[in-house]
Formats: sequence, structure tokens, C-alpha cells
Amino acid sequence: MSIISYIRTIADYPKKGVLFRDISTLFLDPRGLRKAIDGLVMRYSGAGIDKIAVIEARGFLVGAPLAYTLGCGLVLIRKKGKLPGSTIGEDYALEYGTDRIEMHDDTIVAGEKILLVDDLLATGGSALAAIRLIEKNGAEVYETAFLVDLPDLGGSKKLKASGYSVFTLCEFEGD
Ligand code: PRP
Ligand code: MG
Repeated sequence: MSIISYIRTIADYPKKGVLFRDISTLFLDPRGLRKAIDGLVMRYSGAGIDKIAVIEARGFLVGAPLAYTLGCGLVLIRKKGKLPGSTIGEDYALEYGTDRIEMHDDTIVAGEKILLVDDLLATGGSALAAIRLIEKNGAEVYETAFLVDLPDLGGSKKLKASGYSVFTLCEFEGD
């Protein structure tokens, strides 16, 4: 059974006409959680990944158990103003306006092989901003991995067109 059956759809959230793909139900069910993390572990075991970079907030849920299991470090990419040390940042577009993500500037070293993990890929704005942060330090983005892809929002296409590999455990079309 695909992980798709563990994800709940809520209509008209956060605004009318949007189908919100809610991963809280996947995390609530131990079988869903195990299936999701195991699916990623299977793909990345033995891949020689140095660190997993995760995007606040929901990406943390996916990346932490994966990093623990694979035995690699976890790089926290946070929303602006949350990290106490010296940071580098990247702005990215939202539907209305912009937001900013930041990373401690000493967490990634040139030449490292980084896996970028988030829960969901929509327009790709968050992932592309995270990639820019990772590459600022001279590291290599080995692949980008998500539990859910919403291909109609164009993120996976955009990432692939920019030369990045995209791995997703399930997708919802028609969003
Ligand atoms: C959501 C989701 C992804 C991102 C995907 O995060 O968790 O991180 O949007 O959208 P994109 O591909 O268009 O960038 P969001 O910032 O809404 O909130 P969160 O803090 O709950 O993860
Ligand atoms: Mg998010």
C-alpha cells in the first residue's frame, strides 16, 4: 500500500478551492510513519550521504528519523530569525510577498554530499531557496526528497529543469 492512503485531504484550506494534503494523519498512524521513513531509508542506505538538510517545520519530521537511521548529520534550515549563530539566508517567493530561510554558516562544508528533505513539493520555492543556501557553501545537492509531490504546481518540473534529482514517495495530480 502506498503512503498516499495515510494522507488526509481537507478541502478549502487555507482558502477556498485549495485541497490541503494533510500529512498529520500519516504521522499519527505508526504504519504510515514507518512506511514513509522506510521508503526513504531504502533509497538512501549506502548512498554515502554526509548530511541531510531539512526545511522548517514539517521537513524536520521527515529528516530527523531518516538522519538517525542512516547515521548522518542533520542541517536545520529555519525560517528567519530563529537561529542564534552566524547565518546565511535566502529569500523566496510566496503567493503574496516573500519569506526567508536561514542556515548557520558553519553547518555545511565544501564538497559534502547533501540530501535535501522536505515533506511536500509544491511550487518548489522553498526547495530552490534551500538549494541556493547549500550551494553557497560549496556542497553538492545529491538529491531532493519529499513524501508528497503536487506536480501541477510545477515544483518538480522546475527542480528537474535546473538539473536536480527529485525523489517523491507519492503524488497528487489535479491540484
Ligand atoms: C509547506 C511545505 C513545504 C512547502 C512547499 O511549508 O511543508 O515546505 O510549503 O511549498 P513550495 O514548494 O511551494 O515552496 P510551509 O512553509 O507552508 O510551512 P511549514 O512550516 O508547516 O512546513
Ligand atoms: Mg514546510
